Amino acid sequence: MALLFKSSVDDPKAWEAALKRRMPALDFRVWPDTGPPGEIEAALVWAPAPGELRRYPNLKFIASLGAGVDNILSDPALPPVPVTRIVDPDMAVQMSELALLHVLAFHRQMPAYAAQQREALWRALPQPRAAERTVGVMGLGQLGADLATKLVLLGFDVAGWSRSPKAIPGVRSFAGAGGLKPFLGQTAILVCLLPLTVETRGILNRATFAALPRGSYVVNLARGAHLVEDDLLAALDSGQLAGAALDVFAREPLPSDHPFWRHPKVVVTPHVATIATPETAASQIVENLRRARAGRPLENVVGRERGY
Ligand code: NDP
Ligand code: OXD
Repeated sequence: MALLFKSSVDDPKAWEAALKRRMPALDFRVWPDTGPPGEIEAALVWAPAPGELRRYPNLKFIASLGAGVDNILSDPALPPVPVTRIVDPDMAVQMSELALLHVLAFHRQMPAYAAQQREALWRALPQPRAAERTVGVMGLGQLGADLATKLVLLGFDVAGWSRSPKAIPGVRSFAGAGGLKPFLGQTAILVCLLPLTVETRGILNRATFAALPRGSYVVNLARGAHLVEDDLLAALDSGQLAGAALDVFAREPLPSDHPFWRHPKVVVTPHVATIATPETAASQIVENLRRARAGRPLENVVGRERGY
């Protein structure tokens, strides 16, 4: 039996080496050299083509190469086997690095100082204390909880929004649809770390931006489809938002003529917030292969109905 690997963004050689160090007898096949479909017992994938995973009649589980599973669950022909995702503290560390970088840059007015530097302008801008700046984290899961905790350590006023209430020291918890408006109403820097689901698609929209205090900032490091791009542009141009930092986009790679590239209030990174590294994430794939073979429950299984 074999493990099928399919991704256009992850390195198959690095994954093969890391997996075989832990399971030397592993039969590792890289798409499209799958061999007979009946020999595939598990698929390790990023954004498989719709219908592709139906081809393997003995598939025991599907493992996402990422923390997010939206690009797998969106397949209308997905076989009815467990879908797992990567849960890796290393990913949370990397994600928090980029999120903190943007929060601190907005908090300390770095875009404004960069503009002043271009004019050789020596001028101090008003600087609120971190405790006077509320950072709102949407999604308090593996990634959001790590970020929220680190923001508390930096002295920010921190609020978080999730489906169920959370008890994270120093973080004010808002939950569910009813908690969204009060959460947004006090948030000066909004960071989106939600999974992409039916409920969260398009959540960064005009109404959300209007509910933030005027002059707020938005950081989207989750999925491009969380954001209604035209609504963001309008909110930036009207001054409702002061700036945005985006790592993910409706279309990736971001087309070269997209207005975000040249917008003075937008910072773009090319979906690099964090990526699962084979060295730290391979053990959980091997563990699940062993579990699947022994008929034991898998780790890190997502809820297909809730979408994450
Ligand atoms: P988790 O599943 O651990 O956490 C998800 C969080 O979102 C939970 O707190 C959950 O609430 C909350 N949530 C889900 N649906 C809703 C909703 N409808 N309303 C309010 N809150 C909701 O995910 P991770 O933290 O591991 O990852 C989050 C996302 O980050 C991934 O799905 C992926 O899309 C993105 N990502 C982006 C990367 C990049 O490079 N840009 C890299 C890695 C991930 P509750 O706790 O109550 O269930
Ligand atoms: C992920 C990603 O979901 O890389 O892990 O976006």
